[in-house]
Amino acid sequence: MQIKTYNNQTITIDLEYSGGNLVALPALVDPHVHFRIPGDQEKEDWHTAEQAAIAGGYTTVFDMPNNIPSTTNRETLEHKKSVIQDLFDDSQVHINYKLWLGATTENLKDIEDLKNEILGIKLFMGSSTGSLLVDKKANQAKIFELAGKLGLVVGVHAEDEKEMQKQKKKIGKTTDVTDHSKIRTPEVAKRAVTQAIELATKYNTKLYILHVSTKDELILIDEAKRKGVQVYAEVTPHHLFLNENDYASLGTKGQMNPPLRTLEHQDALWNGILDDIVDTIGTDHAPHTLEQKSQSYGHAPSGVPGIETCLPLLLDAHNKGRINLEKIVKLTRTNIENIFNIPSNNDWTIVDLDLIREVKNENLKTKCGWSPFDGKKLKGWPVATILNGTIYKC
Ligand code: DOR
Ligand code: ZN
Repeated sequence: MQIKTYNNQTITIDLEYSGGNLVALPALVDPHVHFRIPGDQEKEDWHTAEQAAIAGGYTTVFDMPNNIPSTTNRETLEHKKSVIQDLFDDSQVHINYKLWLGATTENLKDIEDLKNEILGIKLFMGSSTGSLLVDKKANQAKIFELAGKLGLVVGVHAEDEKEMQKQKKKIGKTTDVTDHSKIRTPEVAKRAVTQAIELATKYNTKLYILHVSTKDELILIDEAKRKGVQVYAEVTPHHLFLNENDYASLGTKGQMNPPLRTLEHQDALWNGILDDIVDTIGTDHAPHTLEQKSQSYGHAPSGVPGIETCLPLLLDAHNKGRINLEKIVKLTRTNIENIFNIPSNNDWTIVDLDLIREVKNENLKTKCGWSPFDGKKLKGWPVATILNGTIYKC
């Protein structure tokens, strides 16, 4: 059948679908996923994750290095690739992927050695899930300097460890999940982003700020962009569609790093999208089992799955007049290709803008089997994803 594209062209696709309001979008690229291999196979693996990606309209993902062991050198990178290949070998679907390499205080040589085999360097300025952490400025500087020299992107988890520990001490022992946002404050993010921009400016490094969640970060990023610093901002669907009020219904299922923010920050992210300060949407798909998440605050791990629900949430927002399709394509595909300099492909996702469906945990393909958006009725869903010429029904 003939389907119109988001920019008023037509493509012919061997798909049977009656009714609806179909539009073809270039298949999405997710610059930020945690597919958990190796080491955390109980949360996700590349079989389940691929199914989730396809169901969500994605055919390319950039996977994070906070695995067990962390992906920080040739040995761990090769091991991770071979485990992914093993899973691919008994699967029909092979989505496109690239891997982030984790920065440590001692892997400068590894970074240089692997510069042509990785997407970029992931730098945890503050601690999160896993053991990766480079919190001293002098060590961060060495990584920015090398990346600047090699032309590699540095993707930062921008939370300032010292400030975070200070707040943690102040709050003391707590089982109240709302304290998560009081420990990892907007100031924690602001300090780290200030430092990252300073280092990127000094060493002429391409800086990709992961999961921007506050108004304060956007102001700094906007300022730096205007000065010609190569800085890019990613936002996540959970920070766009949830805020601190959602702790009441979600509990620790609403716990992630950086944490949920107030409505004011949430609105600022949407304005950042309208003003082109935000460059990309990364889902930060970070599955943990329901059992792990049902522990009390302090024991439950941080992170939420998101790759299956991001596009429906965006299409629902489109139907409500909040964002146009051109902008969705920029944020989820073309800007990402440009920032990371990856070749374009001919993959598509066909969406039915009129399809109304509820997010249901039992329908999800992710191994963890839950979503913070469970029970939410959304209008606009992907119905087929085309990967390397093969059509997969969503
Ligand atoms: O909430 C988060 N979960 N933030 C991170 O930085 C890591 C992620 C994970 O891997 O679980
Ligand atoms: Zn992440």
